Amino acid sequence: MSYQHRIVITGGAGFIGSHVVRLFVNKYPHYKIINLDALTYAGNLENLKDVEQAPNYQFAHINLLDADAVQQLLVAEDVTGVIHLAAESHVDRSILSPLDFVYTNVIGTVNLLEAAKKRWAGQYEGKRFYHVSTDEVYGALGDTGLFTETTRYDPHSPYSASKAASDHFVRAYGDTYGMPTVVSNCSNNYGPYHFPEKLIPLFINNIIHGKPLPVYGDGLYTRDWLYVKDHASAIDLVFHKGRQHDTYNIGGFNEWKNIDLVKLLCQQMDEKLGRAPGTSEQLITYVKDRPGHDRRYAIDASKINQELGWSPSVTFEQGLSETIDWYLTNTSWLESVTSGAYMAYYETQYKNR
Ligand code: NAD
Ligand code: TYD
Repeated sequence: MSYQHRIVITGGAGFIGSHVVRLFVNKYPHYKIINLDALTYAGNLENLKDVEQAPNYQFAHINLLDADAVQQLLVAEDVTGVIHLAAESHVDRSILSPLDFVYTNVIGTVNLLEAAKKRWAGQYEGKRFYHVSTDEVYGALGDTGLFTETTRYDPHSPYSASKAASDHFVRAYGDTYGMPTVVSNCSNNYGPYHFPEKLIPLFINNIIHGKPLPVYGDGLYTRDWLYVKDHASAIDLVFHKGRQHDTYNIGGFNEWKNIDLVKLLCQQMDEKLGRAPGTSEQLITYVKDRPGHDRRYAIDASKINQELGWSPSVTFEQGLSETIDWYLTNTSWLESVTSGAYMAYYETQYKNR
């Protein structure tokens, strides 16, 4: 079969990537979707069980640090588009081992850019290199204001610094080599297949097991939460309709202070688990703060809303409820990702807090 587009999605075995792969494989049977993933602790092919047999889906077990393998894949598959999500993505791990973030997020991204530059060799008609990034590159907000596409970069964690560097490289390839790039910067995602090192799935898992809920600092840090399937639909739009060399901020207009979010989660979990109201809140434990902790993130998503007609499809209460239901139904997934290496990480991260 000859495909209209042949797209490499990197990080497709991860949280957001698996939703993007699923959306593209199902929505675009006339595209070939190649999932390039190294399967680190965060990558799991179980996340794609329902699409792995689709004729337009292929998995390529490749590490972005293997520049030759990346190059060979882009040539062999005559790739026309790249949607780049593979990354080391957890702030706390970036504090423990920053170099891993430099390797994958910076060098891995440059390897991918180089491979696309060589494969396309200036023939950019119908091609696209899309970099999926984070709002954390903008740093921290005070009590007011929103991040716009022109907010100055001011990253504070090794994770956000590495993502900022990768954003700069992608734009530099657009400016210097004319590469057809586009970048989006999204707020915090939540939903099914989220690895239980991040706030929401970690706390869902701990509530299920009656373990303490470690709230960093005073709990008044604010994040802007977006349901992962809404991020995937925004990525679809930006990939197809986003302007060349442009940037789109993606967010849910949905700010929550951590402690308020945790209390809502506790309430919903108590109801679903048939526990008495207030049971899970007793697990809340204030612990030592994260160093360099950004106080508040909030996205102004009016550009993508006005230019591309995108807006979130679910309220936070709905999305959170669906997410909890997914974790309560998929207990074997949760158990498989929280064994072995996860426990060692958990011990290191939380032991002296
Ligand atoms: P994730 O950690 O769940 O998944 C990352 C995936 O990348 C995994 O499948 C992993 O195996 C793969 N990977 C890691 N290193 C690799 C390497 N060297 N070579 C090939 N594959 C490698 O991440 P996520 O939360 O799904 O985030 C995906 C992207 O979206 C990241 O670029 C992240 O910065 C960005 N982002 C995430 C959020 C969020 O809330 N999670 C918000 C905005 C932007
Ligand atoms: P996280 O899910 O790690 O996302 P990010 O740091 O990329 O925003 O954390 C979300 C918020 O929750 C952040 O303010 C840190 C806080 N947090 C806790 O209070 N306790 C925890 O155990 C974790 C993982 C996060």
